Amino acid sequence: MKTLVAPSLLSANFADMKPDIDMLNRSEADWFHMDVMDGVFVPNISFGLPVIKAVKKYTDKPLDCHLMIVKPENYIDAFAEAGADIMTVHVEASPHLHRTVQAIKAAGMKAGVSLNPHTPVSSIQHMIADLDLVLIMSVNPGFGGQKFIEFAVDKVAEVKALAEKHNPSLYIEVDGGVTDQNAQKLVDAGANVLVAGSYVFKAEDRESAISSLKL
Ligand code: DX5
Ligand code: ZN
Repeated sequence: MKTLVAPSLLSANFADMKPDIDMLNRSEADWFHMDVMDGVFVPNISFGLPVIKAVKKYTDKPLDCHLMIVKPENYIDAFAEAGADIMTVHVEASPHLHRTVQAIKAAGMKAGVSLNPHTPVSSIQHMIADLDLVLIMSVNPGFGGQKFIEFAVDKVAEVKALAEKHNPSLYIEVDGGVTDQNAQKLVDAGANVLVAGSYVFKAEDRESAISSLKL
């Protein structure tokens, strides 16, 4: 199977998103990556439920919602109702991760867990079999356009080793500073979903930039 590509709408034109949505619909993008930030868990505020609901109307592609917020467990039903297909919470923001993951699945969504760059893979080792997706952050969350942190590649390989043993169909997603320059080594390490914001939206030919990540 080819790597899935999930362009991040954080880099889209918020004053006029429809052309960007149409471009993603035409492109080889597999999922829409939606970065929700609360100004508490991360030092930035992006967008929330009304934007997810609005985007949902204009695409049939799955909405991959990455919640960089505290207390994500309070919003599970709201995200399901807004049209989220995948709900990914941060392990650092979820003291009762097991309960939260079960609740996300009970609400009909795929459940993902994200790790900040410094958070060890061992923090989710016992949860691997329960998860649909693990999101390895390759920048410190909060902003698009940052430099890729190299040791994320080793973390992807660690997740891949756990997945092979306990959950072969796990989505292993990487987010932050992904370009055509580092995509291959991420895929070689075991990544099967690549998020890309600025690499896609700053490209002259955005659809080709998306295709260049379909490895
Ligand atoms: C960062 C977000 C990313 C961001 C990636 O906190 O989670 O999804 O949009 O942007 P790039 O690809 O520009 O690093
Ligand atoms: Zn993200």
